[in-house]
Amino acid sequence: MLDLILRHCTLPDGRRDIDIGIADGRIVAVAPALPAQAGEDIDAAGQLVSPPFVDAHFHMDSVLSHGLPRVNLSGTLLEGIALWGELKPELTQQALVERALAYCDWAVGRGLLAIRSHVDVCDPRLLAVEALLHVRERVRPYLELQLVAFPQDGVLRSPGALDNLRRALEMGVDVVGGIPHFERTMADGATSVRLLCELAAERGLRVDMHCDETDDPMSRHVETLAAETVRLGLQGRVAGSHLTSMHSMDNYYVSKLLPLMREAGMAAIANPLINITLQGRHDSYPKRRGMTRVPELLAAGIPVAFGHDCVLDPWYGLGSGDMLEVAHMGLHVAQMTGQDAMLACFRAITDTPASILGLSDYGLEPGCRADLVLLQAADPVEALRLRATRLLVLRAGKVIARSAPALASLDLPGRPSSVDFRRRAAF
Ligand code: FE2
Repeated sequence: MLDLILRHCTLPDGRRDIDIGIADGRIVAVAPALPAQAGEDIDAAGQLVSPPFVDAHFHMDSVLSHGLPRVNLSGTLLEGIALWGELKPELTQQALVERALAYCDWAVGRGLLAIRSHVDVCDPRLLAVEALLHVRERVRPYLELQLVAFPQDGVLRSPGALDNLRRALEMGVDVVGGIPHFERTMADGATSVRLLCELAAERGLRVDMHCDETDDPMSRHVETLAAETVRLGLQGRVAGSHLTSMHSMDNYYVSKLLPLMREAGMAAIANPLINITLQGRHDSYPKRRGMTRVPELLAAGIPVAFGHDCVLDPWYGLGSGDMLEVAHMGLHVAQMTGQDAMLACFRAITDTPASILGLSDYGLEPGCRADLVLLQAADPVEALRLRATRLLVLRAGKVIARSAPALASLDLPGRPSSVDFRRRAAF
């Protein structure tokens, strides 16, 4: 006897009219017209059922702090970093925990059930590390929070940062971070990459660095990151976040770089909302978009995920935990409007980041944990187009969030009394 059957689902791979059988919190069957009886039946009515959204790049320590102690007047990356520096001494653990938990509530409502968050380790009190380790445990029953030890002010440039980073790892932070382009020199940046990759190799950890988040085409730490990945045998465990300098690099150089990244088994994480707003700020016209070369990376066999990066913080005064909004922006900025390209954008907020984070139990195969999202959309492209309502969010087979369908009521002569925005089969 199954606990639950979701009937008449459309799956992200295009399979239609599929039933998903769930028992003991796991998916046990995925097939058309399951004959089994279940404690509960839910009719998906042909709408899309997806594994949950995954955010590969976020900053949970600054989330929802917008306006504290003041807003970012220029809207630039560097003023954001300076502003975060002003806020850091005023942070309290209670406020950090409350803001993070509030954001996790938003995330669950949006069907976002796994987040990789960087946590700044340049504060010697490691207040944010302690707070987010606490939050990681609090939300574990419903949301997977993976933490990256992130030396925001530079692991070499900021006194004591390397020791703090090591302490954060001792305390249980999961992943080694870095920010080579923010070190004082290119040489220091390269040294930081080597040192941090060695630290990860010694401890058997993954690496995810803010890498080359600049418009400077000569910021090429991604090359060092790929080379260190190969040298230390870290293939499959290293991600380069942002990689915005690749937008501005010479094409010939990129033609050498992409195979090197592929050889290193690296993943790339673009953050479209943030890249499009923070990059190109020194340009007049034409202004660069700044996002890394997503279609070219994918064509070279390098997995690319889209991250949210920021929500209501010193760098970005918008956002709501909606990964469909993130992918929608990524799709536009990268001009990925072909059918396959749009599907790749949907994977960039589901399967691809799940694999970058190394999530076990993720997916729609029998045996996976029954974490599912029922969307008010016919397929992944429509989900992107509408930033579709997440009608139900399930964790381990239990409904943990519901939203009412998005409908507008109309008052028009001779027209229907309500309208939804899904595509209709025919007119
Ligand atoms: Fe970031």
